[in-house]
Amino acid sequence: MTKNLFITFEGIEGCGKSTQAKKLNEYLLKNNVKNILTREPGGTAIGNEIRSILLNQRDHKIQAMSEVLLNYASRLEHLEQVIKPALNHGSVVISDRFFDSTIAYQGYGFDIDLSAIQAIQKIVIGDFAPQITFLLDLEVSQAFERIKTRADNNRYEQLAFQFHEKVRAGFLNLAKQNQRIKIIDAKQDSEQVFLQIINNLKQFI
Ligand SMILES: Nc1ncnc2c1ncn2[C@@H]1O[C@H](COP(=O)(O)OP(=O)(O)OP(=O)(O)O)[C@@H](O)[C@H]1O
Ligand SMILES: [Mg+2]
Repeated sequence: MTKNLFITFEGIEGCGKSTQAKKLNEYLLKNNVKNILTREPGGTAIGNEIRSILLNQRDHKIQAMSEVLLNYASRLEHLEQVIKPALNHGSVVISDRFFDSTIAYQGYGFDIDLSAIQAIQKIVIGDFAPQITFLLDLEVSQAFERIKTRADNNRYEQLAFQFHEKVRAGFLNLAKQNQRIKIIDAKQDSEQVFLQIINNLKQFI
């Protein structure tokens, strides 16, 4: 079966995005639904170089607006080189983060004017958007508990608890404003979380 459907996973660090995105990728393959699993920032060679600038730089000496611009540069490459071609071939595309993360992190987290981000978004990718977005919502303390043993904490993981509270609240605000975004209770075990995702996908697949 082929379907051109763009699905994104969003949420704070450690909420389970990569776990669920992989589960969905495997579930669809098992059910003969052609799909690709990709991520942001990244998804292309250029995108992965941008990803390393955004995630690995340790001293935080970058303007939040520069982060926005780097994210949208990565996103445009991702869209033109990977996402659109796959959708045009009738594939489902699953992305581990997409534009809601820029609004939540740089907008709500770092206080960049939301209307400025929206204007940049409009210029760079126009009205393109996922059909469905899963927001894996989890208390910051629980998310941190899940990733505390990680050896290679990225730059954002090192920011204060309060920053992640702002990001979480930002994602929840976005969900209130967009029907496309489904809030998933991410504190359950991963099988239960996945069931919520499948239930929401029934109308599409
Ligand atoms: N439902 C769950 N219950 C308990 N632990 C979980 C659950 N889902 C994922 N985990 C574990 O929590 C950790 C973080 O999960 P995962 O890497 O999927 O999160 P993420 O949202 O992709 O994080 P990041 O934003 O940092 O990439 C992993 O060790 C994973 O095995
Ligand atoms: Mg991940």
